[in-house]
Amino acid sequence: MTETRGDSAAPPPELADILARHGGKPHRLLQVLLEIQASRQRISPQVAAEVAESLGVPVARVRGVIGFYAFLAEKPWGRYRVLFSDNITDRMLGNMELLTALCEKLWVEKGRMSEDGLVSVDTTSCTGLCDQGPAILVNGRAIANITPQRLERIAELILAQTPLEDWPDELFTIEDHIRRKDILLEHGLQPGDALRAALARGAESQAEQAANARSWREGHGGGPTGPAATLEEIKRANLRGRGGAGFTTGLKWEACRNAPGKIRYVVCNADEGEPGTFKDRVLLRAYADLVFEGMTVCAYAIGASHGFLYLRGEYRFLLEPLNEVLARRRAAKLLGPSILGEAGFDFDIEIHLGAGAYVCGEESALIESLEGKRGVPRNRPPYPVTHGYLQKPTTVNNVETFCAAALIAKHGGDWYRAIGTAKSAGTKLLSVAGDCARPGIYEYPFGTSVRQVLEDCGAANTLAVQISGPSGVCIDGSEFDRRIAFEDLPTAGAFTVFDSRRDMFEVARNYTHFFAHESCGFCTPCRVGTAMLKATMDKIANGHGTPYDLAEIEKLDKVLHLSAHCGLGHTACNPTLDTLKRFRPMYERRLKSLDFEPAFDLDGALARARQMTGRDDAGAHLEMEP
Ligand SMILES: Cc1cc2nc3c(=O)[nH]c(=O)nc-3n(C[C@H](O)[C@H](O)[C@H](O)COP(=O)(O)O)c2cc1C
Ligand code: SF4
Repeated sequence: MTETRGDSAAPPPELADILARHGGKPHRLLQVLLEIQASRQRISPQVAAEVAESLGVPVARVRGVIGFYAFLAEKPWGRYRVLFSDNITDRMLGNMELLTALCEKLWVEKGRMSEDGLVSVDTTSCTGLCDQGPAILVNGRAIANITPQRLERIAELILAQTPLEDWPDELFTIEDHIRRKDILLEHGLQPGDALRAALARGAESQAEQAANARSWREGHGGGPTGPAATLEEIKRANLRGRGGAGFTTGLKWEACRNAPGKIRYVVCNADEGEPGTFKDRVLLRAYADLVFEGMTVCAYAIGASHGFLYLRGEYRFLLEPLNEVLARRRAAKLLGPSILGEAGFDFDIEIHLGAGAYVCGEESALIESLEGKRGVPRNRPPYPVTHGYLQKPTTVNNVETFCAAALIAKHGGDWYRAIGTAKSAGTKLLSVAGDCARPGIYEYPFGTSVRQVLEDCGAANTLAVQISGPSGVCIDGSEFDRRIAFEDLPTAGAFTVFDSRRDMFEVARNYTHFFAHESCGFCTPCRVGTAMLKATMDKIANGHGTPYDLAEIEKLDKVLHLSAHCGLGHTACNPTLDTLKRFRPMYERRLKSLDFEPAFDLDGALARARQMTGRDDAGAHLEMEP
């Protein structure tokens, strides 16, 4: 990524190349815009119009996409754009003090560009580096473990206008911090092992079919037997999705495989935007072959010939290494036409970058984004399994789900089901962060207690654990014997520890800011509700809250559950309600009085009207004398 000078409103000289590289396809719009943004630090209306014309889409669509994503902008940012990750764990590690110090050094105000256009400094939602925070992004490149000394160095590099490519490599070091391995992280498979096992199982079942043709057709709709055998193993394993909702993977794959039409897609959801979650980052870096193998197993089972990995923009540093793994797999005949010599088994994968929008982790919003649109969740039904990418049947799974599928393809469903609990088969990766001695990735069989995890990660005096991020649940010390499992504490992976020094009101307040920032604004209850929730929490923080406000939050939760369009809105009140239930005194000690106090000063707002009309009598005020 270069730091450009000159007229940033003009089209970059390489615009024609960028457009050509993406084949002039409208659904590559987001990727085209990301490349322009990287080269120009903005996408001016003039450039937006050129892109629109070249791709044959309305200019309003192009500008709508630019307006939607946090990593795209029409107005210029500084040539160096520094974004501080603003998860609660970054806050606990002093990110705001560091931000202020950097702003002072660079003579820039937070959220503004410096007068010479050199730099801008701001915050961004969790960057997925909570095990090594505080973290920042500089022109999209992640830098972890920010200390005052490292920040001093970064400020010097910026002031010297050193191109990012020439910054010392050690600044960009990202650790994996794998602390506990189980069947997945210790899988021992070589690239292709799971696929070979799937093909061999298919061949065996073909022989069975020859012996018992009638029963096979009845059971499998007359499709090719090999892939159906793999599907059976996934179903037998009782694998459930690791992205949060826990839907049964085998049923999803089967619905996609049985959907009408010849074209199908496999999509790996690597958007990982839930604050506190970073296990997919580690899987993509250290286990990329297993992820791609799982996607290829899925393609084999459902009959897809094309796959996408949707990589969150914050993980851009993984793009090149992932593309290298894809190239190696193509060379080894594990991707491309006739995989492992199997005629008709053609499948390839391309990587699509996100651009800083948490809601794009929701599978239908992700598909919209893949199609180069604003990432607004679709109405469902129809579901992606029948009407997904370009309205074709599409299977969307989490990174970890695909890894587990590869293991099942190799070892079989019964082997997998024997691990974990009756309702939660296999293992779960946890992203452990916060107040503990050993943050990082821990893999456990389902059924492991929270207490065990706390012990292993070196947590002491633990007050609370946020399980599965802000959209999950917050538990206190009385619940530490509860278990990580779909039937007790389901989780997409985040496990954030808070010790007795922490103020759980502030934790919840940080999360409400996150939801208000990330609401896509499509539906009114969420757009307005998340903003109201944030304003109410700020009002309480500023010492103006009353018990009435606490009751209002409960009402708001009901409204959001009933009428929000997607999971973001449904879960936005969770952190507040959970902490209110368990740590009510932390709220109550902030309350000003037992009376209602409006968040909006209506009488104050009327002051200008009084001034204009020259009135200041009692009738011109809201509060009249009795
Ligand atoms: C607001 C929102 C954000 C989400 N973010 C992610 C995500 O980052 N990664 C993910 O795998 N699933 C995420 N999901 C869940 C997906 O919609 C979907 O259920 C999942 O990708 C399916 O994969 P699985 O069955 O393997 O879990 C999110 C859901 C919502 C409502
Ligand atoms: S609930 Fe929120 S995030 Fe979801 S569609 Fe509505 S506005 Fe967008």
